[in-house]
Amino acid sequence: MLCLGIETSCDETGLALVEDGRLVHSVLASQADIHSLFGGVVPELASREHYRYIGPLFDELIKQSGMDCQKIDYVCAARGPGLLGSLLVGVAFAKALALGLNKPFLGINHLHAHILVTGLCDKLDWPFLALLASGGHTCLYRVEAPGKFVILGQCLDDAAGEALDKIGKFLGMPYPAGKLIDDFARAGDASSIEFPKPYLDNDNLDFSFSGLKTSAAQYVEKEHGEGAWFAKAQKDKAERKKLGNFCAAFNEAVAETLCIKTKRAIKRNRDVRALVVAGGVAANSMLRAKMGKLGEKYGLPLHCPRPALCTDNGIMIAQAGYLLAREGFSHGLEMETIPRGRKMPDDMKAPQNILV
Ligand code: KG4
Ligand code: ZN
Repeated sequence: MLCLGIETSCDETGLALVEDGRLVHSVLASQADIHSLFGGVVPELASREHYRYIGPLFDELIKQSGMDCQKIDYVCAARGPGLLGSLLVGVAFAKALALGLNKPFLGINHLHAHILVTGLCDKLDWPFLALLASGGHTCLYRVEAPGKFVILGQCLDDAAGEALDKIGKFLGMPYPAGKLIDDFARAGDASSIEFPKPYLDNDNLDFSFSGLKTSAAQYVEKEHGEGAWFAKAQKDKAERKKLGNFCAAFNEAVAETLCIKTKRAIKRNRDVRALVVAGGVAANSMLRAKMGKLGEKYGLPLHCPRPALCTDNGIMIAQAGYLLAREGFSHGLEMETIPRGRKMPDDMKAPQNILV
C-alpha cells in the first residue's frame, strides 16, 4: 500500500511516500531561516510559505520518486494540533488530491505521528510507553495500537522544546535553539549551576517548564543581560566555556525532569514492552543517553527516531497513515482541521475493509 503523507502543521512543509512501512522518497522545505528573523514562528508567514511550496514540492516528490500519482493508495495529511492556517494548506491540498485521484483520505494526529514514525526503523512491540517532547507539546502516552493512544500526562504551560527555544532567544541564539543548546551542552559541566527540576513535588505525570525557564532567564539577565551572551561566546573562549556550562545545566534540568516523570509512568504501566521517545527534543543527546539508561534499568528497549525524523517531516505522516490505513481507517472529506488547544475528535471512520 502506497501512502502519501503531507505535513504543514508549523514551519516545515514535508511530503513523503511510504510503501508498506518502507520509505520510498521524501521532500522537505524548512522555513526556519524566515522565522529566525522574528525569534519564533509567525503564523501568517508560515501559512503563506506552505502555500508557496506545497505544489512544487509535490511535483518534485513525484518526479524524483519516479512514481505515478495514480499508484497512490491513500492520501494523508496532518490535521492537528498546529497552526490553523498552516494546517489548512496541507489538508486542503490532500483533500483535493484524494478527490481528484478518487483515493481515500486520512487526517493524522501530528503528535501520534511523531511517535509512530519510530516504527519505520525499528519493530515496535505493543503496548509501549511513549514520551513526546517537541516545540509545542510534552506528553506521556500509553500506546496500545496505531489508533489507540491513552494520554497519561501533558504539559500545563511551556513545552520542553519551547523552554529551550525561549532560553535560546534570551541568550541571543537563532530560532529554534534546541540543537545549539544541545551542542554547547556537550562541552559543558552540568553540575556548575543548579537549576530547579520543575513540577516533581506531586503525584501526577504532567509537566510544567515555565518556572525553570523563568529561573534560567533570570540567571542570564543578571549575568549578561538579554540577548547578548551567545555573541560574546562566539568571540571569547572563556565565555564560550561558561555558556557551555550554563547550557549543560539547563539541558540537564529539562532532560532529568522528563526522565523522572517517564520513570513514574513506567512504574505505573509495568506491562509495557518498550519505551519510545519522539518529537524534536528527542534529538537531544543528553535526553537520549538518560532515556537509554532508564530503559535498561526497567528492561525496556528504547526506540527513538533518527534525529532527522525527530523534527517535523512528511515521513511521519505517511508512516502513521500507512499503519492506520492498513487497519482500514479513513476520514470523509468533511473532516475538520484541529488547531492547537482544541480537543482532537475521535472521528476516524471505523475499519470496514481490512486491506492488509
Ligand atoms: O517536533 P518539532 O519539529 O516541532 C513541533 O512539533 O513542535 O520540534 C521542534 C523542537 C524545537 O523546540 C527545537 O528547539 C527542538 O525541537 N530540538 C531540539 C533538538 N533539535 C530540535 N531540542 C533539543 N536538542 C536537540 N538536538
Ligand atoms: Zn511536531
